[in-house]
Parts: sequence; structure tokens; C-alpha cells
Amino acid sequence: MSFIYITRAVPEATTAFLAEALPDARVEVNPEDRNLNRAELIQQASGCDALICTLADTLDASLIEDLGPQLKVIAIYAVGYNNIDLEAAKNRGIAVCNTPDVLTDATAEIAVGLALACARRFIEGDTLTRQGRFNGWAPMFHRGQGVYGKTVGVVGAGRIGKRFAATMKHGFGCPILYHSRTDHVDWENDLDAKLVDLGELLERSDFVSLHCPLTPDTRHLIDAEMLKRMKATAVLINTARGPVVDETALVQTLREKRIAAAGLDVFENEPALAPGLSELDNVVLLPHVGSATFEVRDEMGRMCARAVTAVLTGKEPEHRVV
Ligand code: DGY
Repeated sequence: MSFIYITRAVPEATTAFLAEALPDARVEVNPEDRNLNRAELIQQASGCDALICTLADTLDASLIEDLGPQLKVIAIYAVGYNNIDLEAAKNRGIAVCNTPDVLTDATAEIAVGLALACARRFIEGDTLTRQGRFNGWAPMFHRGQGVYGKTVGVVGAGRIGKRFAATMKHGFGCPILYHSRTDHVDWENDLDAKLVDLGELLERSDFVSLHCPLTPDTRHLIDAEMLKRMKATAVLINTARGPVVDETALVQTLREKRIAAAGLDVFENEPALAPGLSELDNVVLLPHVGSATFEVRDEMGRMCARAVTAVLTGKEPEHRVV
């Protein structure tokens, strides 16, 4: 009998799929719906044949080892998998699978929403209105940055970045710059996007949106020096991974109003925020909800369940990273 362990509460679609596909399996879900520490994870999941984990579980080589020799598949309930030691999994012959595509639209929506909320100062406006500080229309009151026709710079040329760029191009007439290690003909053909280096992108863009994976090369890609290259009127959006931005340097930049605003769905030391970040008016903060729609979270769960089912029945899973 296979043992499948799921590290957080998941939509019923996940367990329903497993119950039908693998009726003999023992499926256990972390009953507390909180992140488990290392010792708890080992205690509860050790001996599992399949692990469904989240981006908050740190699966380094020694934890993978401690889960036991029978572990065959790790399915991560996310598209990003920077928290898993892929080399260690590969060396042990463990398949690692993720959930790409299904969350592309939802995450791009959040990036567009943050761009609008920052540029037009939604949260500040909502707060002052609730607090009775709206004293009537006035020409000088609560002005922000316009969005139509502004230059958008996208860092990372993956699916989510492209969907964000397409929405900004087709919805708001924004010219698109992008930064990536290689050029992408489809970006040029579909979006008339121009490949530029990071410095040029930061200097020319009115909206800079981060869509690259977190790797050793992209950790603190946007540091104090790079932030200095942005326009004073620009908006920075991060829906990728928190450590891509030096959050302490960002707090300083926002405090000194060296850029107009930032919209963040991810944080460097999630769920903690850098000191001072939550006190600033010129930042919009979301609790890592890029993929958090009912439909998407159901489908992500089914994808994890399909990956586990495939591996445990000797088939090749759909979205195998290693
Ligand atoms: C992902 O899938 O990597 C997202 O950050 C989860 O919302």
C-alpha cells in the first residue's frame, strides 16, 4: 500500500482525485494546516512513497534523505521549486513535478492589479475615504501615475511574464521591453517587445514587473544599485519570488521616494516583512496570492495528484522537473 503525505490542507479536488485513482493508498494530510518544521515533517511524512509539498517546505538534501529510501515522487503545489534540492532528488531517482500553466492567468492578473493599484494609489485612496479624509473633489487631490501608453519592462521571459506583458500591451497600449538571457522571437512577433539589458530596462520602464525564477543568479537581482537606475515615477511589481529583490534596499528607496511605488505579492523572508515596509504608503502588499483562485487551486491540486498517481503506477508524469 502506498503512503502519500500532503504537507498542508488542500482543496478537496486533490484528495478526491487520489481516492479515485489510488483507492488502496494511505493519504495523510497535515491536520493542522500550518507549515511544519523539519522535525515535524520527518515525523509525519517519513516512510512516504509520495510527498505533496508547498513552496514553504524546505526540501534540502538531508531532509529528502530523512524521508526515507522509498520516496519516489515529490509534487510541489506551485510552479516555482527553488525550495527543493533538485540535484539531491535526481541523485536518488526521485521525480520532482510542479504545476505550470494553470496559474499563468491568475498570477498575471495579480501583477496587472498591483500595477494599477500602485499607479492610481488604490489602497491609500480606500484608506483615506474610510477614515473620513475625503473632503470632496479637488484638482490637486490624490493624483497618481497614468497607465495607458506607458513603457512596461518585464524581467524574465516565461509564461506569466508574457501574459502580463500581453495584457499591458493589448489592454493599455504599453510598449514592452523585456530582459532575459536569450531573445524570444515570440515576444518580438506577438508583442513587438524589445530585448534589452537589465540596466536599460530599469532606466526606460515606467512599470518594471519581475517574472524570473529564483536562482543563485537572480537572488538580489534588484539591489540598491539597480533600484537607483529606475525612474522616480516608476512602479516596481514583484509576483515572482521575494529574494529577487533586496527588500531592505527597497524600503530605503521607497522611504526616500526614489521610485513612485512598489506592488509586492512575495517577500524576501516570507511571511516576515523587512522592517519599515508595512509603514510605507507607497507600497501595496499582498499575501502571496498569485495563484489563489478557487479554480486554479483546485487544478493545481489535481495536477499534483496526477503526478503522484503517474509515478506510483509506473508512468511518466506530465510536468516533471527532474
Ligand atoms: C508558484 O506557484 O510558484 C506561486 O508562487 C504560488 O502561488
